[in-house]
Amino acid sequence: MRLILLGPPGAGKGTQAQILSDRYETDKISTGDILRDAVGKKTPLGLKAKEYMDSGRLVPDDLVVELVRERLGTDSCRKGYILDGFPRSMLQAESLEKILKQRGELIDRVLFFEIGDDELIRRLSGRRSCEGCKRVYHIEFNPPVKDGKCDSCNGNLIQRSDDRKETVKARLKVYREETEPLIAYYNTNGLISRIDGLGKIEEITKRVDREVSRADDDYPEVRSGD
Ligand code: AP5
Repeated sequence: MRLILLGPPGAGKGTQAQILSDRYETDKISTGDILRDAVGKKTPLGLKAKEYMDSGRLVPDDLVVELVRERLGTDSCRKGYILDGFPRSMLQAESLEKILKQRGELIDRVLFFEIGDDELIRRLSGRRSCEGCKRVYHIEFNPPVKDGKCDSCNGNLIQRSDDRKETVKARLKVYREETEPLIAYYNTNGLISRIDGLGKIEEITKRVDREVSRADDDYPEVRSGD
């Protein structure tokens, strides 16, 4: 299974990517998590990425494409992968297409999560993430069993620095300008499944499951760009 999860910040991509990854034992590649990890460890990539992420802008395409290319080359991606938050610019989508062609692979589905700005802001302002394993919670909608601690690894739950109000506004603007055009791009290729992102996490998972199983049965295989 090879999936792309597309949608605005806070739409629930990471949450559903984690559920899919656990269920299908498929590698989840979240460019946001990889970049945050690099920032935390102050690696050369992290040092370059930090100022972009802090201001809600996209990290330059060449850096992100390279990190995805490297990750796709690892053993854990041989059976499939879930791309969470990549691609998110036309240049990234075109680069992915080239990488897939070199690998002789197809994307099965692009799941696009549709949701209004008010709900996005509620979700982002209450989000907490595990410092250790990166699992995502929400203080109201998806709280941990023990306050401030991850259910999975007991790590500390922290608030992301880019979930501040001003940065969220900037991220939404960047999404509209740079990422939204990908919906039409993948629609032309017949790969888009629109998922209503409003509802409980389990309800969204059911919608996702329906689309993922339809990808096996109903849709012709489409190699984007052919
Ligand atoms: P990234 O980490 O990818 O952030 P994002 O795309 O803005 O998405 P989010 O992680 O904010 O939201 P999500 O859709 O995953 O929602 P979640 O499941 O967490 O990117 C961060 C930054 O890194 C970017 O701004 C950029 O600088 C850089 N970057 C990353 N990728 C890049 C790329 N490809 N190119 C260039 N730069 C890149 O859910 C949100 C909250 O809602 C959680 O608290 C969750 O518990 C809750 N929730 C989820 N589902 C529901 C539901 N159904 N009902 C109620 N609450 C829910």
